[in-house]
Amino acid sequence: MIMQPSIKIFDTTLRDGEQAPGFGMNTQEKLRIAAQLELLGVDVIEAGFPICSLGDFEAVSAVAEQTQNAVVAGLARTRDSDIESAGKAVKGAKKSRIHTFIATSDIHMEHKLRMSREEVIKEAVRGVTHAKSWCEDVEFSAEDATRSDESFLIEVFQAAVEAGATVINVPDTVGYAVPWEFGTLIGKIKQNLPNHVTISVHCHNDLGLAVANSLMAVQNGATQVECTINGVGERAGNAALEEIAMAIYTRQSEFSSHTNLNHKEIFPASQLLSQITGQSVQLNKAVVGGNAFAHEAGIHQHGVINNPLTYEIMTPESVGKNGNNIVLGKHSGRKALDHRLRELGFDFTKDELNKVYEGFIQLADNKKVIEDSDLIHISTNGVTELGDEFVQRTMQQFLNK
Ligand code: KIV
Ligand code: ZN
Repeated sequence: MIMQPSIKIFDTTLRDGEQAPGFGMNTQEKLRIAAQLELLGVDVIEAGFPICSLGDFEAVSAVAEQTQNAVVAGLARTRDSDIESAGKAVKGAKKSRIHTFIATSDIHMEHKLRMSREEVIKEAVRGVTHAKSWCEDVEFSAEDATRSDESFLIEVFQAAVEAGATVINVPDTVGYAVPWEFGTLIGKIKQNLPNHVTISVHCHNDLGLAVANSLMAVQNGATQVECTINGVGERAGNAALEEIAMAIYTRQSEFSSHTNLNHKEIFPASQLLSQITGQSVQLNKAVVGGNAFAHEAGIHQHGVINNPLTYEIMTPESVGKNGNNIVLGKHSGRKALDHRLRELGFDFTKDELNKVYEGFIQLADNKKVIEDSDLIHISTNGVTELGDEFVQRTMQQFLNK
């Protein structure tokens, strides 16, 4: 059997994720998320940007001490103080990494760094060499890589590898790339670097392409993907971990690779992040949104009740989501209503069901979602014209549940 290459999941929820307004986390909160990320089985936890604040330094150190399996990374610019701070913060980890970066696009070099190309190469080498004195595992990122001159970018990466970088990360910092262009870039970078170097990608979602770009990179030789739970992150966010993981898993034959994630911890991780940050996930968010596995339309409900594969390409249970996904509303049919009523303990004849259905549709015209309590009410009160015996029977069935 041919071993499929494993795609390393580098989670940056605690770093890039928390840089988004409303997502700041304190040490205790970061520790809870980090513990969940370990259950999820991510390969790398980027715990923060230690030079940013004492609080973040402490949080990264605490995550480093707590984490058992994942590599714990701390972010640093190439400056000495950043690297020292990151080196100290991740020191207590069983497996530690310094992730250092400098921008390589003309616009960033001219207007932000005020450095020439030669100076940027020198600084990248200096930063990696310094990081290497703190930590064996050093990742180097070229910020704004996708708007950088391609041959200069490759030159910087080669210099960083020579200085000791073991992971080369290609960030689409401003979410500008389109998938085919990004895939080609990753292929070229791979060709120009030694085989032992891990090629990583870090995509932002400004055009809604972060996941597509990341997957295209995987198809072209990237073996580490940087992403966040619920796709949180700067501006429109980062590539969503859950979408990348489930795309690779659900379409295995297209990828011939796998991640080491425990998919059943995806939904709990999403819920925990929302709970801690107080930021809920949009209902139609892929994989973890409230409606991701919900069915209201009658035709869909009919299909899913008979065989979930009719309208579900993955099961909610596979990502750790349990419970009823048939949502009753005005688009639902008798089949779904009967199904739910049976789950609630009712066993109606066809005529009785028709009556209950009439009451249900009347209510559904005025209420967006019909709850179980509504169904019980309609079933036990709304059909009195069927006679006392029917009401008694349905009440009894309900009480016996
Ligand atoms: O988006 C970006 O370029 C980053 C780097 C620091 C990797 O977050
Ligand atoms: Zn980023």
